Amino acid sequence: MVTAAIFRAAATVMLLVLSFSACQAQLSSTFYGDTCPNALGTIRTSIRSAIARERRMAASLIRLHFHDCFVQGCDASILLDNSPSITSEKFVTQNNNSVRGFEVIDEAKSAVENVCPGVVSCADILAVAARDASEYVGGPSWTVKLGRKDSTTASASLASRDLPRFADGLQRLIDLFESKGLSERDMVALSGSHTIGQAQCVTFRDRIYSNGSDIDAGFASTRRRNCPATFPNGNGNLAPLDLVTPNSFDNNYFRNLLQKKGLLQSDQVLFSGGSTDSIVNDYSRNPSTFRSDFASAMIKMGDIEPLTGSAGIIRRICSRVN
Ligand code: HEM
Ligand SMILES: *[C@@H]1O[C@H](CO)[C@@H](O)[C@H](O)[C@H]1NC(C)=O
Ligand SMILES: *[C@@H]1O[C@H](CO)[C@@H](O)[C@H](O)[C@H]1NC(C)=O
Repeated sequence: MVTAAIFRAAATVMLLVLSFSACQAQLSSTFYGDTCPNALGTIRTSIRSAIARERRMAASLIRLHFHDCFVQGCDASILLDNSPSITSEKFVTQNNNSVRGFEVIDEAKSAVENVCPGVVSCADILAVAARDASEYVGGPSWTVKLGRKDSTTASASLASRDLPRFADGLQRLIDLFESKGLSERDMVALSGSHTIGQAQCVTFRDRIYSNGSDIDAGFASTRRRNCPATFPNGNGNLAPLDLVTPNSFDNNYFRNLLQKKGLLQSDQVLFSGGSTDSIVNDYSRNPSTFRSDFASAMIKMGDIEPLTGSAGIIRRICSRVN
């Protein structure tokens, strides 16, 4: 009797969960198939020409999608400028003078507006741009799910709360990603995008001058040459996040971590005697595992709290609400 009652209760809960998720429109890779069949090709052409002009842009675009998705979901909130009704996310510590690629997204958006006005969201353009960027620099490709709408709001306070920081410890990073539905394995795979791109001296100064046992001494001394000890001297000087192959998407990031040559503290904590060591080990030995895990994790990240159906809008210009 008791078992039957429990079974009935469980079945009811299951039904509720199912019917609730059925109400929410799902993202789908064919979302623009009828309404804008050339959307993906148009975005791709635009993104590829931007990366051909400046290769680092590939890294910047992948990061932009990440910083969008972690703040009230993948809703292009990061693209909104300050206005009487908006406090932009662009100026919080983790973003200020650091996230880039806005003009590239604007260009892709106007190219798409030319072929199908008012149809394709800025949030979807960010997701497609990240995939095109990875593919262009030799990283994995994947099928992007589409159908996100754009927000009419931004949140500097959520951006400040939810975006990771370079000095964060392992548990903090694990908790943050978990709060977005991403596992430790997703977190390590996604951090592997630090195989491309650059960081500013202000983000790794403390680490390279720490004289600790957690950093390779030769690596620290090389990095000190272009990153003066005293704040704010040289704060904006750049160093590659992957010292070996900064322009190609490979698994050298993980091999560097094994040698204590992670540039940021948040990189090295992934291989520092904690629960993620084994994942770093795995990716350092198996590039193809890293590639397929990275692609899956990017799809998962792109699924964070999208606005779908009648929620949200299609912005005509990505930096402001229509
Ligand atoms: C795990 C927590 C993470 C922390 C603490 C972190 C922090 C940072 C920092 C401090 C920089 C340098 C920014 C600057 O100096 O201006 C950076 C760059 C970058 N990050 Fe992360 N990041 C994390 C995870 C991720 C994830 C999940 C992705 C993508 C999926 C990502 C992609 C990138 C890329 C591609 C760059 C280079 C950007 C460029 O050159 O413009 N990061 N990150
Ligand atoms: C962002 O950076 C600029 C310098 O480029 C600085 O003037 C401004 O105070 C910073 N904003 C915040 C909110 O820290
Ligand atoms: C690390 O060592 C260098 C020179 O060996 C010294 O100048 C610096 O102050 C030391 N830093 C710390 C944090 O102890």
